[in-house]
Amino acid sequence: MQIVILKDSAEVAAYGADIFIKQLQKKANSVLGLATGSTPVSLYRGLIEACDAKLVSFRDVTSFNLDEYLGLEGTHPQSYRYFMNQQLFNHIDINKAQTHVPPGDADNPLEACVGYEEKIEAAGGIDIQLLGIGRNGHIGFNEPSSGLMSRTRVKTLTKATIEDNARFFRDDEYQPHLSMTMGIGTILDAKRVVLLATGENKADAILATVEGPLMAACPASALQLHTDAVLVIDEAAASKLSDRDFYIHIENENQKLMAKLP
Ligand code: F6R
Repeated sequence: MQIVILKDSAEVAAYGADIFIKQLQKKANSVLGLATGSTPVSLYRGLIEACDAKLVSFRDVTSFNLDEYLGLEGTHPQSYRYFMNQQLFNHIDINKAQTHVPPGDADNPLEACVGYEEKIEAAGGIDIQLLGIGRNGHIGFNEPSSGLMSRTRVKTLTKATIEDNARFFRDDEYQPHLSMTMGIGTILDAKRVVLLATGENKADAILATVEGPLMAACPASALQLHTDAVLVIDEAAASKLSDRDFYIHIENENQKLMAKLP
């Protein structure tokens, strides 16, 4: 795992946006794996600005989101489809027909999960997957105890996740307790994985991801198995890492090495 420790959330978003900008400049028809939640919002703003400035185009991009609430239609303001339209898709030159979010309103969610996997495969697989992380180490909606090789499926949300996400729902609004999410195996199949984490409330999850054992109790620890996973985190999220200085040293050495390459 590459671990990049930056000062604050603004630096994390800018660094993350830059990774995606470079990816699109290298491969215009990239298949992007996208996430919702509060963490990627500033990164998406960076992508919108890059698109406005004509540094990148999303015309040939295909995207797959990690997850969706089960039982919400895409027009529901709390659905992840709605979030993606509001935060990114409505502001860039992407063809919405090429954007995919798990269909939370499918009549047969089990079949829809298999169909989602088939669509990812038909698109040639995900080139780069963006992730946030839950306080409990979840990635997508793969809650602790999720199989480390799991595929897209229906998952029950933990009490902690429901409480964390309650801030997005009005008191009188129905908040789903089930989701449809890419599996950990689906995420590990992405050619590159970029996980962003900011704030002290993510420090325990980051500690378990980086320095803990590989275990289903911390789904993000599965990234230890990935050959090209980068964690972009701020000082607060890194604050519990015991080898913080070593990770900074490795990153400095990496930068020097990259600067020497032709
Ligand atoms: C969202 C997702 C979740 C979030 C995680 C962190 O699509 O897959 O795993 O990334 O819950 O959420 P925030 O960024 O709101 O702290």
